[in-house]
Amino acid sequence: MTPSCGGVGHWQQRADVVVVGTGVAGLAAALAAHRRGRRVVVLSKAVQREGATATFYAQGGIAVVLPRTDDSIAAHVADTLAAGGGLCDADAVTSIVADGYAAITGLVDDGARFDEAAPGRWSLTREGGHSRRRIIHAGGDATGAEVQRALDHAAAHLDVRRDHVALQVLRDDTAVTGVLVRNEDGLGVIHAPSVILATGGLGHLFSATTNPEGSTGDGVALALWAGLPVADLEFVQFHPTMLFDGRAGGRRPLITEALRGEGAILVDARGESVTAGVHPMGDLAPRDVVAAAIDRRLATTGDACVYLDARGVEDFARRFPTVAAACLAAGIDATRTPIPVVPGAHYSCGGVVTDVDGRTELPGLFAAGEVARTGMHGANRLASNSLLEGLVVGRRAGLAAVAHAADAPAPRAVVDPVRRRTLDRSELQRAMTRHASVVRDAAGLAQVRDLLDTARPRDLTGRAAVEDAALTAAATAVVAAALDRPESRGSHHRADHPHPDPSRAMSTVVRLDAAGVATITAPAQACC
Ligand code: SIN
Repeated sequence: MTPSCGGVGHWQQRADVVVVGTGVAGLAAALAAHRRGRRVVVLSKAVQREGATATFYAQGGIAVVLPRTDDSIAAHVADTLAAGGGLCDADAVTSIVADGYAAITGLVDDGARFDEAAPGRWSLTREGGHSRRRIIHAGGDATGAEVQRALDHAAAHLDVRRDHVALQVLRDDTAVTGVLVRNEDGLGVIHAPSVILATGGLGHLFSATTNPEGSTGDGVALALWAGLPVADLEFVQFHPTMLFDGRAGGRRPLITEALRGEGAILVDARGESVTAGVHPMGDLAPRDVVAAAIDRRLATTGDACVYLDARGVEDFARRFPTVAAACLAAGIDATRTPIPVVPGAHYSCGGVVTDVDGRTELPGLFAAGEVARTGMHGANRLASNSLLEGLVVGRRAGLAAVAHAADAPAPRAVVDPVRRRTLDRSELQRAMTRHASVVRDAAGLAQVRDLLDTARPRDLTGRAAVEDAALTAAATAVVAAALDRPESRGSHHRADHPHPDPSRAMSTVVRLDAAGVATITAPAQACC
């Protein structure tokens, strides 16, 4: 223990760049920084590598405009903006989409292999909201597992530390100074001029989610606790088709949207289409539209689930092995029986406010991937744009972190002991699921806010305590933003305000004050 840690840290180390998270954005960032010769430390709170990240579970694929096809950057941008409900930043979208092919080429250089329609020609599928077949995939529906495999392999010689939980981003008045970490040796500090948050999403705000168990809003909370703004957090995307197998909660299997791209149809228990007359793209409408249509149908019929009928999908078991296996594990043979599905919490469209290089407003702090809000997704992310964004912005954040580290003096972190407001996880998940899911209203959201107000400070004693505190902070911001938006737009549906309000076509920006209370600040603009 040394005085520089204010009596809190037991061990101390130095790095140029600390990356928190080992999914696509984290490893893309770490590799970019490492390849520039920097000392990079990568932290993962998971003990095991397998299944630790949302990247690993991604099924559908990566949306990318390939050269020499009838597709174009302009068409992909237009589809992304249309899905985003008027809240995307068009410049950010163009910048990220335009870098997609180069990023995929880099991933292939790192060993990723995508499915081919013919030798040397990638097989392309389609998902909701896309006007073209532009989704590349791997292992049929195991795209994320292949991306993770390739990046893990490329990063095998990096300093990746498992069972390391980030408790706090350390800063002084002007910049980042490091990270407070807990590992098996206890508390410690990694002094570093650059820290990259790549912690993924916050699906475990809800009782059931497609996200891995670690998706507890950690990066959003770390940024909020460091005084930074988050934006667009009211836009939690519910995937229309999460497997409904009668089990209560936790991580549930995703039934990829690419199945609908290959002809599967959504029907209710009577065999009637769920999306007929709802949107010109029918079952391939953007995700928010399909999820809301399912939610309405369930409310009308009182049924527990709807069905995805994939019996007409050619070569189902070979093309969709992950889905086939998940169904079989639940006792469903999807070649003979429609698959029972419900909408499930899947993706946070908002996050820590950054520019397209992952810079936040605090020099030295970067964020990339699902934890960040670049302006790419607006009010509703277009399918398969997330691995794309993670790859492109992850790499850029790694390079920006290197540039910052080169200019910054060696930091000396000072740590004050912290306690964080924390609510019981199950109670929080029940309230969020009941009142802040696919459809919300002011009365229900106010009930969750009142519950959150009862949260009491607790010590961050270990991973579970940090996650519970992070969920509480993230929920506080989500609910404040959702209450502050009395309209329906993208993935934010308000039963008491069912239509969009053109005067609200701007992002909601939230900060937490020192007492953990949410304040809404000015609409989000480019931050840096
Ligand atoms: C899916 O495969 O349906 C999910 C893809 C995504 O979330 O972009």
